[in-house]
Amino acid sequence: MTNISTKRHLITAALPYANGPIHIGHLAGAYLPADIHARFLRLQNKDVLFVSGSDEHGAAITLRAKKESKTPKEIVDQYHQLNQKAFEEFGISFDIFHRTSSELHHKTASDFFKELDSKKAFTKKTNEQFFDEDYNQFLADRYITGTCPKCGHEDAYGDQCEKCGSSLSPTELINPISTLSKKKPVLKETSHWYLPMQNEEAWLKDWIENGKLNSEIHHDPKKWRKQVIGQCKSWIDGGLHERAMTRDLDWGVKVPAENADGKVLYVWLDAPIGYISATKQWASDHGKKWEDYWKSEETEMLHFIGKDNIVFHCIIFPIILKKHGGFNLPTNVPANEFLNLEGKKISTSRDWAVWLHEFNEDFPNQQDVLRYVLTSIAPETKDSEFTWSDFQARNNSELVAIYGNFINRSVVLTHKYFDGVVPSIDESIEGFSEVKNQLETLSKSVSQKLENLQYRDAQNEAIAIARLGNKFLAEKEPWKLIKTEQKKVESILNISLQIAANACIALSPFLPNSSQKLAEILNMASFTWENLGKVDLISNGQQLNKAEHLFSRIEDDIIEKQINKLKSKSESTKTEMEETEIAPFKEHIQFDDFVKLDIRVGTILSAEPVKKSNKLLQLSIDLGIETRTILSGIAKYFSVEDLIGKQVQVLCNLPPRKMMGIESNGMVLMAENSDGQLQLMQPGSSVKNGISIS
Ligand code: MF3
Ligand code: ZN
Repeated sequence: MTNISTKRHLITAALPYANGPIHIGHLAGAYLPADIHARFLRLQNKDVLFVSGSDEHGAAITLRAKKESKTPKEIVDQYHQLNQKAFEEFGISFDIFHRTSSELHHKTASDFFKELDSKKAFTKKTNEQFFDEDYNQFLADRYITGTCPKCGHEDAYGDQCEKCGSSLSPTELINPISTLSKKKPVLKETSHWYLPMQNEEAWLKDWIENGKLNSEIHHDPKKWRKQVIGQCKSWIDGGLHERAMTRDLDWGVKVPAENADGKVLYVWLDAPIGYISATKQWASDHGKKWEDYWKSEETEMLHFIGKDNIVFHCIIFPIILKKHGGFNLPTNVPANEFLNLEGKKISTSRDWAVWLHEFNEDFPNQQDVLRYVLTSIAPETKDSEFTWSDFQARNNSELVAIYGNFINRSVVLTHKYFDGVVPSIDESIEGFSEVKNQLETLSKSVSQKLENLQYRDAQNEAIAIARLGNKFLAEKEPWKLIKTEQKKVESILNISLQIAANACIALSPFLPNSSQKLAEILNMASFTWENLGKVDLISNGQQLNKAEHLFSRIEDDIIEKQINKLKSKSESTKTEMEETEIAPFKEHIQFDDFVKLDIRVGTILSAEPVKKSNKLLQLSIDLGIETRTILSGIAKYFSVEDLIGKQVQVLCNLPPRKMMGIESNGMVLMAENSDGQLQLMQPGSSVKNGISIS
């Protein structure tokens, strides 16, 4: 909880696997919000340390190496460099981007394991696992493919089916095949160190749900995102199990114990410790104490991650830290949902992605545009979607037409009328106190949203400052007054420049490059967050520098090129693309949540188009005990005749909702095909209206 005793801030962003390039999904999920947060704190002169690095172990790496006929070392060297450079060009302001292949990390992780082992945190157990006799090695989950027992997909991995999303264990696969020899593996005994997580449920629950640790207040659980708490709750309520913390693999941190030849630490034990070793490296490079960031009560820790990492950061790593003893637990874990791309899931294997290093090359000096767009559509509460046309529209109609235009007008006019010298203000000018109030309100709101880790809303409030300036200038029309009322024009431009300075500060966590450029144009020596909301940031008589465009229009041909690039690359993996996309299963819900749904059978009595809407149909549905009006956005898919007399399933207890002036009282359930086509879900034979479905 941010409170008076918070002195230091440790921000971590998930260590990306060094087995491929970074794409926009990674950025939106972890790195961009983490960077915004770090910049926000630094602007307040807070003591903040922002760490990340490459996750260089695990089967993700060895498999990639095999695919490219390279050694794991070659793979991690290649992608570590590529990603580090791409992050830097993009302006992700890590204090350190470390590596888990470093000696310091190996030692840190190894010592950590030893300490846990000596504290009897593990149980050692022997069981049977798949073994490839040709290659004389045990097979990590990802090295085994076979038919998914749940959906029949033939290429499921030993740990997960990518088609239906089920998580699996290798022995569940039908017809398991080793990806090494392409033969059927045999079962063979092996021993491993397990973490018995089932003993940790009580304190984890109290910590996650109530924000309490050892009965004391640790953090405010209201500040945690609902989905994060929800996912943890469903894991814990479903019962935690033991999980192996070692693997039979020759790439990774060697297990520091006897009889552990050919065994390495499980990558999900090893990688989060990477946050600690990164801190150690940074501290030794800068003459600081790493313990201040991990062991002090005055430090708060935030883990920025994507939702597929929640269990590791909210359950497994906290257990490990607590068992070890002496370490802080995270204050918050702001995990994001997923970002989709042009209607499909981002996929590395299908090359359906916008890669950061390619973006940097294709759009040099336009990193802020991507930052802006990704934050505008940040998947904070639900999955969201990136499209190139939206990217273009947000650039052209928001950054260029509003922010850029406002700044350019203010600076150009000051040069034109006053040789670039900031004119003075008469504070009694009409509109000034209103601007002043709005600046105060917006500034407070940006800070508030940032503190609540709501980056999307925060950026909206920040860009509203530019919008305020743009509107102010457009209404005051100083160009019409300059001949007759010069005094007034002086005040108008002074106010415009104060608004510009505020926009510069407020937007700087989001758009650091443009803010830097703007600060130079406005000749703001330096700026701090404390100054935000003030109207005397630019003093009279101050000389402005030359106007420069902060943003430039992106034309259609540039966007078409990107879309073609995306499509042509995915052409090569077309056979995979042609499979119908089936959405993965959603997270567990509680039975109580399900029982709350009131779903019933009803007959459609009438259907008519809604005036002025080409989507909506107004349905009248007989639900046995009453007839209801329900609006449904299905006009494109059904004609009135298709519907009348049909029985459908209706969700009855949604609150009433008004659309186009008509109140709708429920929702008709439909099946949606992957091409967006809808189908009614009718009972097989006639059912009494009003009957509940459960
Ligand atoms: N490499 C993992 C991934 O990309 C994330 C590791 S986060 C860490 O999903 F905490 F383990 F470092
Ligand atoms: Zn499946």
